[in-house]
Amino acid sequence: MMNTLSKPGLDPIEHASRDEIEALQLQRLKWTLAHAYNNVPHYRQAFDNAGVHPDDLKQLSDIARFPFTTKKELRENYPFGMFAVPREQVSRVHASSGTTGKPTVVGYTKQDLDNWAGLVARSIRAAGGKPGDVVHVAYGYGLFTGGLGAHYGAERLGCTVIPMSGGQTEKQVQLIQDFKPDIIMVTPSYFCNILEEQRRQGVDPHASSLRIGIFGAEPWTGQMRKDIESEAGIDAVDIYGLSEVMGPGVASECVETKDGPVVWEDHFYAEIIDPQTGLPVADGEEGELVFTSLTKEAMPVIRYRTRDLTRLLPPTARSMRRIGKITGRSDDMLIIRGVNVFPTQVEEQVLKIAQLAPHYQLVLTREGNLDALEILAEVRAEFEHLCEAERDALGKQLQHAVKSYIGVTARVRVAEGGFVERTLTGKARRVVDKRPR
Ligand code: DLL
Repeated sequence: MMNTLSKPGLDPIEHASRDEIEALQLQRLKWTLAHAYNNVPHYRQAFDNAGVHPDDLKQLSDIARFPFTTKKELRENYPFGMFAVPREQVSRVHASSGTTGKPTVVGYTKQDLDNWAGLVARSIRAAGGKPGDVVHVAYGYGLFTGGLGAHYGAERLGCTVIPMSGGQTEKQVQLIQDFKPDIIMVTPSYFCNILEEQRRQGVDPHASSLRIGIFGAEPWTGQMRKDIESEAGIDAVDIYGLSEVMGPGVASECVETKDGPVVWEDHFYAEIIDPQTGLPVADGEEGELVFTSLTKEAMPVIRYRTRDLTRLLPPTARSMRRIGKITGRSDDMLIIRGVNVFPTQVEEQVLKIAQLAPHYQLVLTREGNLDALEILAEVRAEFEHLCEAERDALGKQLQHAVKSYIGVTARVRVAEGGFVERTLTGKARRVVDKRPR
């Protein structure tokens, strides 16, 4: 029985029984496999090559027999080759900017856009938002899914949306002062830029109207959450998503537990695999997150390898499973003199030192045959007065922490505020790799 009475305002499926959720997933998974097989030449060929047919899926775990999809296949079918409906039925496209080569293009039917808005609305509600709230969207608008994805979700929930987009940090501060938003949706690193600008303008972040921040689009640590919450006096929750699977709102965190994004399992089937072998790992173990869409019409994705490393966790505030915080992307993992290092590990150490700001960057160079890591950090505005020797001492402290907790030797440079590169919109550049190819 769905217990709709005790959870007013939630979609019934958010607190349905596991059996109900899995039955829905099975039914939708069968539809998706057939839809992909019948309408996308790539999937027909890939299934045939693997000797599987949509009819072979009898239970959810049978999905493991189907082939993976990676960014490579999406690129090979650039721009519209992965669409499963005639182009005329595609209402909108987005694209993720590849650093090299062509972008990855994704498409949505009217129904897909409707589902997406519904899931982002659900995500904002999980974060503590409600109809009537004012939502400041500082994710970039355009081909990036962040801005428009957040925008239509906030409208769907019945909020007043301020479509600010990214950049123009001074203006962001001004509009937050004047329009008094309750909620901000932005990358965590760009929110740190906004906080910095507020302080520069003599605005007390605690006095702002903001109650909730819905942060995602890049990895950020629990330490960063604490830092932001105490600096800004808000609840900071995590929203996850990727363009290939939909955009923001594939999974999102509940404010009452703040224990990792809940995967909206009525629309996405999640698996964790060992990135080396491709085999499923047990629930709770870390590996690469893989998604199969369950309702997407324009561009179904089958076992899409996200490259994001995390764990699947049991349900808590909702009936659906959660993911742990993303440790990093397998392509962001640095191997420094044989030790695996993720930028988030360095972030944890930086933020443990009270005098250091949440702006940092890892610079990799090659010295002879060996990789060398330099960490750039900076002092918080309140500690600008520290002399060089005092900054050097902070650098030594960070260097020691990185050596003992992560196991790598790094050079550390602690500079004045503003030294570390700020990206004007969206995702911070945490790694600069200067090693020769
Ligand atoms: O970043 C979609 C999005 C927009 C999510 C706004 C949340 C908020 P892409 O540009 O395709 O889409 O990048 C997707 O960003 O595979 C992760 O590596 C990373 N990512 C997204 N959300 C999180 C998060 C959007 N909450 C890629 N934590 C994903 C860690 C995240 N990494």
